[in-house]
Amino acid sequence: MARIFSGIQPSGIPTLGNYLGAIRNWVALQEGHECIWCVVDLHAITVWQEPAALARQTREMAAVLLACGIDPGRHILFAQSHVRAHAQLAWIFNCVARLGWLNRMTQFKDKAGKDREAVSTGLYVYPNLMAADILAYHATQVPVGDDQRQHLELANDIAQKFNHDYGTEFFPPIEPLILGPAARVMSLRDGSKKMSKSDSSDQSRINMNDDADTIALKIRRAKTDAEPLPDTLAALEGRPEARNLVGIYAALTSGDPALVLREYAGKGFGVFKPALTEVLIAALAPIARETERLLADPAEIDATLRRGAERAAAIADPIVAEAERLVGFLPPR
Ligand code: TYM
Repeated sequence: MARIFSGIQPSGIPTLGNYLGAIRNWVALQEGHECIWCVVDLHAITVWQEPAALARQTREMAAVLLACGIDPGRHILFAQSHVRAHAQLAWIFNCVARLGWLNRMTQFKDKAGKDREAVSTGLYVYPNLMAADILAYHATQVPVGDDQRQHLELANDIAQKFNHDYGTEFFPPIEPLILGPAARVMSLRDGSKKMSKSDSSDQSRINMNDDADTIALKIRRAKTDAEPLPDTLAALEGRPEARNLVGIYAALTSGDPALVLREYAGKGFGVFKPALTEVLIAALAPIARETERLLADPAEIDATLRRGAERAAAIADPIVAEAERLVGFLPPR
């Protein structure tokens, strides 16, 4: 059975982008696969996080994942910092990855912006830690949104170079699973920017805990254009905001944007936006309710994460020990 790994940063409340691009696919993949789901708090501190907020957000992220249908009994859900193997393998990968490879990472360029000298060195080597997350479990399939594609290519480069340098086939190739019509959900305020939990504008995103009124308001205010919806997908070219909303609607209904256009061609946003609001509320309200119920018992969430970490470490520790042996470290015992 293929082993699946994926992670999500507890750097805020998860957004509709996280849900449609990743979490919902994770839930579906649980049938027929062995899955490891990780709340990546080591990744989150590559940019400043208030300690109390990080702890709260890590718990909230776990609660949302559970509310969406992540099953911590049949699969593994844990916090990255609880399993030492991630940081240990990441160090080895810091010594395998080349500076030139990291220099090409577009997400680093976006996040660092103009102030490159001032960002943490962790942000720079972030993709090496991501490679370690996956390869510490010999996971071969990684469901992510489209924005993680380049990081997974780098993870494959690292695995290949490790295998080549140490004369081994130890690390398997990784296959990205980028699924569905909403693999890249865009900001509600700017169709050229990805919807992000760390965007300074709350109006740019739907949060997984937004209530019905907030969702309605955000969709009403979402940037669009004056044209009615066209009857073909090709005609959405050059209309990124319209395309984004059609993609979201499709992801929450049939999965096929062409069917959405068949239904709404010729209709304006005055008709389409209320319909979109309705499907969003129907999908998100039960998740928000269940999240709130789970958060009433934080000790139970923490216990779930700890149980997950024990099971994760049981898989990762021997794999990382073998990588250390291949590198030439003396056995620690
Ligand atoms: P993060 O926390 O930014 O996002 C978690 C998942 O949500 C997807 N996603 C989106 N999908 C569609 N539209 C969007 N607007 C959108 N925003 C986010 C992301 O692609 C991701 O799948 N580096 C990763 C976390 C990570 C990881 C890993 C993932 C750490 N280690 C190992 C896979 C394997 C990240 O920052 O995700």
